[in-house]
Amino acid sequence: MPPKVSSAMSWISSSVVICLQFRPLLLFVFLDLCVASLGVTNVEYISHYNQHNFTCEGWKGAPEAAAGNCTRYGRNGALRCYGGIRNLPAIPEPKMHRLQDIIFCGWPKHTFNPITDLQPFPKIRSLIIEYSEMREFVFDFPEMFYLQSINISWTNLSQVNARTFKRVHALRVVDLRWNKLVQLDGPLLLPRHFEELYLADNPWNCTRNFKWLLVPEKGAIVVDRDDIICMDKKYRDRHMLTVMNFKVMLRKECQTHDDLQNCTCTMHHIIPKTHIPLYTINCSNLQFRTMPSYIPTNTTTVYLNDNEIIDILPLRNNPYYRHVVDIHLDNNRIETIDVLEGGYWFEHFRLLSLRGNRLQKLPVYALDNALDGNLDANLLLLSGNPWQCTCIFIMRFREILMKYNEITRDAINITCTYKNSSPVRRASVLSLTREDVCKPEEEPKIYPLDMLNAVLAFLILLILSKLAYDYYYYKNFGRVPWIVMKLP
Ligand SMILES: *[C@@H]1O[C@H](CO)[C@@H](O)[C@H](O)[C@H]1NC(C)=O
Ligand SMILES: *[C@@H]1O[C@H](CO)[C@@H](O)[C@H](O)[C@H]1NC(C)=O
Ligand SMILES: *[C@@H]1O[C@H](CO)[C@@H](O)[C@H](O)[C@H]1NC(C)=O
Ligand SMILES: *[C@@H]1O[C@H](CO)[C@@H](O)[C@H](O)[C@H]1NC(C)=O
Ligand SMILES: *[C@@H]1O[C@H](CO)[C@@H](O)[C@H](O)[C@H]1NC(C)=O
Ligand SMILES: *[C@@H]1O[C@H](CO)[C@@H](O)[C@H](O)[C@H]1NC(C)=O
Ligand SMILES: *[C@@H]1O[C@H](CO)[C@@H](O)[C@H](O)[C@H]1NC(C)=O
Ligand SMILES: *[C@@H]1O[C@H](CO)[C@@H](O)[C@H](O)[C@H]1NC(C)=O
Repeated sequence: MPPKVSSAMSWISSSVVICLQFRPLLLFVFLDLCVASLGVTNVEYISHYNQHNFTCEGWKGAPEAAAGNCTRYGRNGALRCYGGIRNLPAIPEPKMHRLQDIIFCGWPKHTFNPITDLQPFPKIRSLIIEYSEMREFVFDFPEMFYLQSINISWTNLSQVNARTFKRVHALRVVDLRWNKLVQLDGPLLLPRHFEELYLADNPWNCTRNFKWLLVPEKGAIVVDRDDIICMDKKYRDRHMLTVMNFKVMLRKECQTHDDLQNCTCTMHHIIPKTHIPLYTINCSNLQFRTMPSYIPTNTTTVYLNDNEIIDILPLRNNPYYRHVVDIHLDNNRIETIDVLEGGYWFEHFRLLSLRGNRLQKLPVYALDNALDGNLDANLLLLSGNPWQCTCIFIMRFREILMKYNEITRDAINITCTYKNSSPVRRASVLSLTREDVCKPEEEPKIYPLDMLNAVLAFLILLILSKLAYDYYYYKNFGRVPWIVMKLP
């Protein structure tokens, strides 16, 4: 692997490259001489391990790994520990003090304590930890003046405090890729001359706040921020910057529209491939008398529960609501939904919740048409309204509730109120029968008809018996009825 040269010092890079032409010869001595002869102090530290391509790969198979031993390399003191640091006390102190490059493979086992674990190495310049099961740093790094590069990969590290690296004054590079990091509480606090932070390939939870990545001064230090991928359930496989961009845009939109100032605006999904964000706006319980006149584009869900809304006309004629598929309007003052009839929204909604409003009637046939033609309709909640127990309406309403029982899922709780009854009489709509609601109205109409029928039947009987009587007397006595005599 070729040594890296600080970008700030790119003017000396060619000299270094020339030096490196002689790499096969006396590598360490020569490189040191090269760097020294250039009189450069600001060259990014060149790790001996990178030159040797020493990594932890295959460390488990090495003989030292079984014992958990360390081995020293190189004139300048590089130390490689496989699975432990058991033989460290055997190394004489002056030699320990010269060590500059430390690589730990498969160690530490659980936690890393930068204070005690690094104390034996006062001149350490590069720290590499790989294949460790460490989950955290038990303390922040102490005041250190030589450590320039920290590379921790393939560990169980899941948490880093903002101040962890703050006091490592010479620190330039921190590479935390391939760990188990989930969240950061904010941008890391880093020493003044810090250059590069790598954070990709961790199971980041993008539901958490990483908006600082978009702020140039704070975010640019994360050199691989374009490669960071989310791993949480909500944003799995989306780029973190994409997610944060949408979050920031949405926040701005909600803050700049007066109507939405007190609402909560969240993103609940990003459609794969197309990367269209979907938003939820929650304006519940804000004493709204009207529906907000503006809703961010790509909002699909709106909560307006517990307000004082009367009019839902915006659902029909405000284009911002055209693609709002789920709308919650529980506990408002809505008296009618007639305005929705025949509109685009009514035939495309997915969820409409109108519990606890003031609905007495609704256009039953329009509702039937809308639900019939709307394959997306999933939930329509209508309980908690003072529906009227009138014969024709309630019978049709009941029919609809049964026909679409998969959608009107709170039908069991829908009750109606009898109009002129006192005390107030309520009935469950589903359990009503035609006789329950229709009799009181139809009875008075039927009664006189029945009377008339009875009278007519009686008269027919009378006439028939008179006929029989007359016939009998005529046959036996030859007497014709009195009326026949009178006929002209
Ligand atoms: C580990 O180090 C100890 C001394 O500290 C030594 O006796 C032992 O042989 C070493 N084992 C291996 C496998 O290097
Ligand atoms: C850190 O270590 C990993 C794994 O060995 C390596 O791929 C990466 O390049 C190193 N990072 C830096 C900044 O050297
Ligand atoms: C570290 O992570 C690996 C893989 O997820 C897991 O099997 C192991 O139990 C973890 N170790 C500790 C100490 O948490
Ligand atoms: C991500 O963060 C959110 C919000 O704090 C939390 O509810 C969720 O459980 C987290 N998910 C994972 C996978 O950690
Ligand atoms: C938002 O809330 C504040 C404080 O409760 C209130 O003064 C303001 O009028 C509200 N704005 C809207 C649009 O409701
Ligand atoms: C919407 O906001 C209200 C009031 O702030 C809250 O009680 C409710 O839980 C929120 N609903 C959702 C789905 O977030
Ligand atoms: C809304 O979605 C469209 C695609 O349907 C997309 O082009 C647009 O950028 C999105 N708008 C916002 C504000 O996210
Ligand atoms: C019906 O109302 C009861 C009591 O308020 C409630 O517990 C239940 O969840 C409701 N059922 C439906 C399907 O809404």
